[in-house]
Amino acid sequence: MKKSTVYFLVVVLGLVLNACSYDFIVKEEVKPVDPTVDVLFATQIAPIFTNGCVSCHKPGGQTPDLSAANAYNSLKNANLFDTASPSASLIYTFPNPDNAGKHSWKKYSAAEAQLVLTWIQQGAKNN
Ligand code: HEC
Repeated sequence: MKKSTVYFLVVVLGLVLNACSYDFIVKEEVKPVDPTVDVLFATQIAPIFTNGCVSCHKPGGQTPDLSAANAYNSLKNANLFDTASPSASLIYTFPNPDNAGKHSWKKYSAAEAQLVLTWIQQGAKNN
């Protein structure tokens, strides 16, 4: 074999092995929410508020009151969800990680935002 052929093969082999190694890079992806399974307000949405929001959004504090006992009525009474146009709902858009500049106090994680959106798309039920 010519020296140049050996060199060529080494380069090709290197490229192939490199290409393979990229398959092992694990991408950080948000797991899609199954739209056929109901997102439950009491056990999936309210806990997001309890963990990340009630420090400010509590009875007598910043509106909306997002404490577990009052969150659903607060959202409903203040029209913070819009089942006709779910992605325009304030409870989805305001603390959205994509909403640069606004509500810098606290943002949803991408997964939380997706869960909230799916819940509204499914009719924003007090379930
Ligand atoms: C550190 C305090 C703080 C935390 C924590 C916080 N917020 Fe807020 N939020 C505010 C303040 C202050 C406002 C008033 C508007 C503004 O200045 O951004 C507000 C406004 C809002 C509004 C707009 C209400 C309206 O009628 O226009 C929504 C919706 C909201 N917050 C949702 C949330 C959610 C959901 C969380 C938890 C993921 C959260 N907030 C966590 C302080 C906070």
